[in-house]
Amino acid sequence: MIVLGIETSCDETGVALYHSEQGLLSDLLYSQIDLHREYGGVVPELASRDHIRKLAPMIRQALRDSGLAHHDIGGIAYTAGPGLIGALLVGAATARSLAWAWQVPAVAVHHMEGHLLAPMLEPEPPKFPFVALLISGGHTQLVEVEGIGRYRILGESLDDAAGEAFDKTAKMLGLSYPGGPKLSALAGTGKPRFAFPRPMTDRPGLDFSFSGLKTFTLNTLQATARSEQDKADIALAFQGAVADTLTIKSRRALRQTGLKTLVVAGGVSANIQIRASLRAMAEKENAAIYFPRPAFCTDNGAMIAYAGCQRLLAGQQEPLAIKARPRWPI
Ligand code: KG4
Ligand code: ZN
Repeated sequence: MIVLGIETSCDETGVALYHSEQGLLSDLLYSQIDLHREYGGVVPELASRDHIRKLAPMIRQALRDSGLAHHDIGGIAYTAGPGLIGALLVGAATARSLAWAWQVPAVAVHHMEGHLLAPMLEPEPPKFPFVALLISGGHTQLVEVEGIGRYRILGESLDDAAGEAFDKTAKMLGLSYPGGPKLSALAGTGKPRFAFPRPMTDRPGLDFSFSGLKTFTLNTLQATARSEQDKADIALAFQGAVADTLTIKSRRALRQTGLKTLVVAGGVSANIQIRASLRAMAEKENAAIYFPRPAFCTDNGAMIAYAGCQRLLAGQQEPLAIKARPRWPI
């Protein structure tokens, strides 16, 4: 079966074609970063309008690039949430309309399930069951994954998501949107100098909290930052604190569940220091660790096509209603 995947939950338009036996046939991504940069963050109305502008031509291009016609498509998967409601509606309405016109099923995919399954697109995918650490702009979660659709939340952020903390801290450091990767680049020139707290690691449980760390960073910045080097040192201390916190909690989740496989996904999993810290921990714990390739850490259509394909193959059927849910628990 060939599934068309559509991702429009935030500021990237993703379109992919996934073949259940041959894998990815096409994977197109259009990022709206340039559009939102001057506002310092994503402007929802502009995001929706840009998705409208790009989505149909990208679907046409994906079909053309892979030499397919619409009657080759067996199903359509679209991100139905969580995300920006206007942006989600563009993908949902397009997917539903095409599915009706082409007489194929459409399936609503949870954005975080897409992230969670992204490592399955790699040549050596992880095997169920595993612990997943999902770290994106909107979510920070530890999930026990028994199989597709069988998820149990072990812990999550009580306030800011890891990516959100990265973006807000980057803003404080004077870096432009999207701040996460820029903060990470700045940290690359930082020297170990500051001791930042590791929030919530000294008490039991698997929940996270990053807003205190953000405030700690602001206070340090106001008290000490004079030069670019000071800022780089602060960026390194912040990133190290996030990396350590994620690592300590992931180790706890592995020990608590007795599982020996950790899957890390979502935009923040592109971060090199965080990857290295988790990898070192997994090695010590004798656990296998899996990351998506960097392009599949952040939002993309491929992960949605894959997740939708698994659900369609499992026989999932949905009514014709257009589903878009800005908030939606996994
Ligand atoms: O998964 P994603 O593309 O979108 C959401 O579902 O939220 O994640 C985006 C988040 C942003 O907060 C971005 O700053 C962060 O991932 N991010 C990074 C890096 N690359 C992306 N954070 C830290 N280091 C990176 N290299
Ligand atoms: Zn995402």
